[in-house]
Amino acid sequence: TGGVTTIDAGFKNTSSCKSAITFLDGEKGILRYRGYAIEELAEKADFLEVSYLLIFGELPTKAQNDKFHRDIQKQSLVDTDVKKILDGFPKTAHPMGVVSALTSALTAFNAKSVNVDSEEEMYDAVVKILAKLPVLASWAYRKEEGLPLEYGDSSLGYVENFLKMMFDLPNEEYKSNPVIVEALDKLLILHADHEQNCSTSTVRVAGSSHAGLFASISAGISALWGPLHGGANQAVIEMLEAIKEDGGGYEKYIEKAKDKNDPFRLMGFGHRVYKNFDPRAKIIKVAADEVLADLGIEDPVLDIARGLADVALNDEYFKSRNLYPNVDFYSGIIYRALGIPIPMFTVMFAIGRLPGWIAQWREMRLNKEPIGRPRQVYVGATERPFVDVEKR
Ligand code: SDX
Repeated sequence: TGGVTTIDAGFKNTSSCKSAITFLDGEKGILRYRGYAIEELAEKADFLEVSYLLIFGELPTKAQNDKFHRDIQKQSLVDTDVKKILDGFPKTAHPMGVVSALTSALTAFNAKSVNVDSEEEMYDAVVKILAKLPVLASWAYRKEEGLPLEYGDSSLGYVENFLKMMFDLPNEEYKSNPVIVEALDKLLILHADHEQNCSTSTVRVAGSSHAGLFASISAGISALWGPLHGGANQAVIEMLEAIKEDGGGYEKYIEKAKDKNDPFRLMGFGHRVYKNFDPRAKIIKVAADEVLADLGIEDPVLDIARGLADVALNDEYFKSRNLYPNVDFYSGIIYRALGIPIPMFTVMFAIGRLPGWIAQWREMRLNKEPIGRPRQVYVGATERPFVDVEKR
């Protein structure tokens, strides 16, 4: 066994690193980015400002903030040859798979690997990937819809530009809605980092081999895709839709979720760290009410979500296991109200989580962390002689 005999499956009781980026208190439901409360950042900052804070450690001065916004606007282009890679995908490809592949492909179009010790090279790579991921995301969506691909409009803000690339149609004037822009900016902030979650740990381990930033981010996107992690926001809406189709009775689904013999889980509920309400879910729940009211949308699925949460929060099974709604439980309801299609929900999570992944990758490299290489407890066959195929 190589001398290590304790197994910590899922790393439930293992700290992988020291980090100064994000603080979580699971018992109290506290989340802070570089010491600033998520509630304040969601209200008072914009997504790029929070991205700068996470990555470089301080809120940007006005000059730094304006330059960061401007540099990203200027970089919101992607090499046209990337379209040839996109053309190879079928329309049915899930956008998470497309975006992960195209992000890795960015390495080929930005050959120089990032020298993390060079502030200038790091800043350049940060601006590039923050500017280009939304373009790739919008291209994945447009490909699925059979629509012509759009390039960014460098006169627009980050979120507005993304929405225009997603929804601008050749035959009509695109009009952005400030309610939608504001709601999406807030959602991206709430998803921006979350210490050593599954996809961030993936980015750190991939980067610990000194793989490049874009390749490490691509690995993180793939890890986020799973329904137990970021893919839950898509699974929540699919679950709520199924309940609606099934007449809206959620009690049956609560019982299924409690049945040990039934693999069904209440998606959007539970969390490895939060044993209290996920503070992001609290903010998103309020935002969902506001956005739907502002847009005049009646979404029966929101009523089902509220009813489901009320019943689960008073049920012994969920209470005894400290299972509360997490960030994914209500976010899909807002994405849907913003006109974002369900398969793109987890891509939205990836766009939000990007600055966190970058910040964590940079910290891991600046701290010169060793390559991630855990041991195991071997339980396989003992030594045995080879047998020729004729004698097997
Ligand atoms: C995200 O880590 C992060 O920070 C992630 C994230 C981020 O910002 O990066 O916050 C984003 O991924 C949020 C989580 C999204 N996933 C889901 O909503 C999927 C449904 N939730 C679960 O699968 C689960 O709660 C996890 C994956 C979130 C956490 O799993 P754990 O910590 O490994 O807990 P577990 O599976 O060991 O469950 C403990 C108990 C078990 O029951 P017992 O065996 O003790 O009887 O709680 C039960 C589980 O069966 N349980 C659930 C449940 N979640 C846990 N039962 C029903 N429905 C659920 N959702």
